[in-house]
Amino acid sequence: MDTPPRSVTAKVFDFPRNAWYAAAWDHEVSARTPLARTIAGVPMAMWRSTDGAVSVLADACWHRLAPLSMGTIHGDELQCPYHGLRYNPAGRCTSMPAQRTVNPSAAVPSFPVVERHRYVWVWPGDPDLADPDLVPDMHQMEHPDWAGDGLTIAAGCNYQLVLDNLMDLTHEEFVHSSSIGQDELSESEFEVTRDGDRRVTVSRWMRDIDPPPFWLKNMRDKFPGFSGKVDRWQIIHYEAPGTICIDVGVAKAGTGAPEGDRSQGVNGYVMNTITPESARTSHYFWAFMRNYRLDSQLITTQLREGVHGVFAEDEEMLVAQQRAIDANPDHAFYSLNIDAGGMWVRRILDEMLALEGRGNDADAAVTALRPAANG
Ligand code: FES
Ligand SMILES: [Fe+2]
Repeated sequence: MDTPPRSVTAKVFDFPRNAWYAAAWDHEVSARTPLARTIAGVPMAMWRSTDGAVSVLADACWHRLAPLSMGTIHGDELQCPYHGLRYNPAGRCTSMPAQRTVNPSAAVPSFPVVERHRYVWVWPGDPDLADPDLVPDMHQMEHPDWAGDGLTIAAGCNYQLVLDNLMDLTHEEFVHSSSIGQDELSESEFEVTRDGDRRVTVSRWMRDIDPPPFWLKNMRDKFPGFSGKVDRWQIIHYEAPGTICIDVGVAKAGTGAPEGDRSQGVNGYVMNTITPESARTSHYFWAFMRNYRLDSQLITTQLREGVHGVFAEDEEMLVAQQRAIDANPDHAFYSLNIDAGGMWVRRILDEMLALEGRGNDADAAVTALRPAANG
């Protein structure tokens, strides 16, 4: 039998399993009804016990594989909707209504879980490797110096397409021309640095420019009546496998923001964490946090809705891109200078996959993605 043609895109779109992934906003997991969600290809059932702790089990009963997420919560236990087997948070069956004794092998996999930064994080891989210190840093989500809110996009594309989108913001000039885009984005220099095994930073400064509409509005929220030039920054912090927190803002031009004095500006953090659901779908959790006018619910809601509109433009592009990729499965990606940050992301993901014994085609993928010579 012929082997099917090798698909470069299929290879590079794989996801690590030994990693923390945001599975839900904290408020989505309740003690009333279990939540069904597929994380890194694994269907899971999650619930909150009456004491508040979150538990996550594989969403298929030991007995006949009925989805436990359709069941009911009893204290800290989950009861299967079909014949009533009950499971504790460790996945052990504790009661079988139709018989007195519980088969000692009756169990379903349970997954390590941590609640942090307003999200519930799960570890779909080897539980022995699940170190809570590896949960990505998104502290602005719950720090008193920051206020804001966000939403989830059920994105019909591979998670790496979203990561590419966020690692290179020159697309704003074309995709978001009415809100945050401006020509200076692709004209300005940027710097890419890798920090350790899991982090990459892309920094870009645009000095003495006109603020685009989104930033002019925010400057006027803090400095009523502001007009004039600004220094604008975008500092993109990636943390593997799927978290990108972008330090963004503008300050009155020439007031020292690039040197560290941001007092004459407005600063936000675009918090993004993207969780693969399947090879072609992802849970894209985002929030916009700011460090000024913290008490204004009006500004929180305006920013959330404003960013929601901007991200809808990305979503349309990403879904269309995924469709085109599916229609051209053997077409490699080519890279430009603007893709330097995204290239590091792929390299790190390749390294994580190799550690899991699934990175055998990394060389081919990296070759296909090697950037064009500097120009
Ligand atoms: S399928 Fe769950 S108890 Fe039968
Ligand atoms: Fe965008």
